Amino acid sequence: MQSETVRTDEIAAYWNERIHDLEMTDQPVGTVGFFDDLDDYRFDKLEYLQRLVDFSSYSGKRLLEVGCGIGTDLVRFAHGGAQVTGVDLAERAIALARANLDLHGLEGRGDLRVSDGEALPFEDNAFDVVYAHGVLQYTASGGRMVEECRRVLAPGGEAIFMVYNRVSWLNALSKVVGVGLEHADAPVLKKYSIAEFRCLLGGFSEVRIVPERFPVKSRLHKGWKAVAFNSLFVGTFNAIPRWLVRRFGWHLMGFCRK
Ligand SMILES: C[S@@+](CC[C@H](N)C(=O)[O-])C[C@H]1O[C@@H](n2cnc3c(N)ncnc32)[C@H](O)[C@@H]1O
Repeated sequence: MQSETVRTDEIAAYWNERIHDLEMTDQPVGTVGFFDDLDDYRFDKLEYLQRLVDFSSYSGKRLLEVGCGIGTDLVRFAHGGAQVTGVDLAERAIALARANLDLHGLEGRGDLRVSDGEALPFEDNAFDVVYAHGVLQYTASGGRMVEECRRVLAPGGEAIFMVYNRVSWLNALSKVVGVGLEHADAPVLKKYSIAEFRCLLGGFSEVRIVPERFPVKSRLHKGWKAVAFNSLFVGTFNAIPRWLVRRFGWHLMGFCRK
């Protein structure tokens, strides 16, 4: 099926049923312990994120997160002093993102809305920063979402995206070993080559793409494949000089200027 023909309500229904990384905590959904566990897990697995995105450097900026999920990154931006707005197609995600802000001492901070990132309910040039981590690959039209993000960004504003790299160690491994990728059953899951991602971001005046997310020990998978992965693959891959394998990182971060 062409991803453009997938209906928005199918995508919303899928993400209403599944909270990203939910299996990484035993805490009751919506409690402080739940949000803190998922924050720990995220920033441990994605060690690169804090290196590349300084969540505290947007103080006073109007920041929009598209596909904010349960608001893990939005809370970090808000703690850093940004004026945050978050949208997501999934009502459940928005309700949890609101609870996440409230439980972290950010009551009343942030405008959270159930909304389609391909048809944003905001004026042109309304934001200084637009951020969408792990969202373009799950929407019906990544092109429409990028255009909307660019439209609502003020001239000179910064957009930050992350998509999955088709030509990457994880995509290759999943094909060779037959281990499913997370959310492989989502209505849309698109992977991009670096060239395709650059083309998708072609409307911006500046684009810098940084491949990241190299093997780390998995808590998600179990059985002999997980043992082999954790004890052999992770160490061996990470012993290769990074400059040789950088282009095969699983996450492609795109840093753009309007
Ligand atoms: C893998 S989760 C990522 C959530 C969060 N950005 C993170 O990194 O944890 C993908 C999110 O994108 C949202 N999403 C997918 N298509 C969307 C669209 N067209 N508009 C808004 N949100 C969308 C989903 O509802 C889901 O919450």
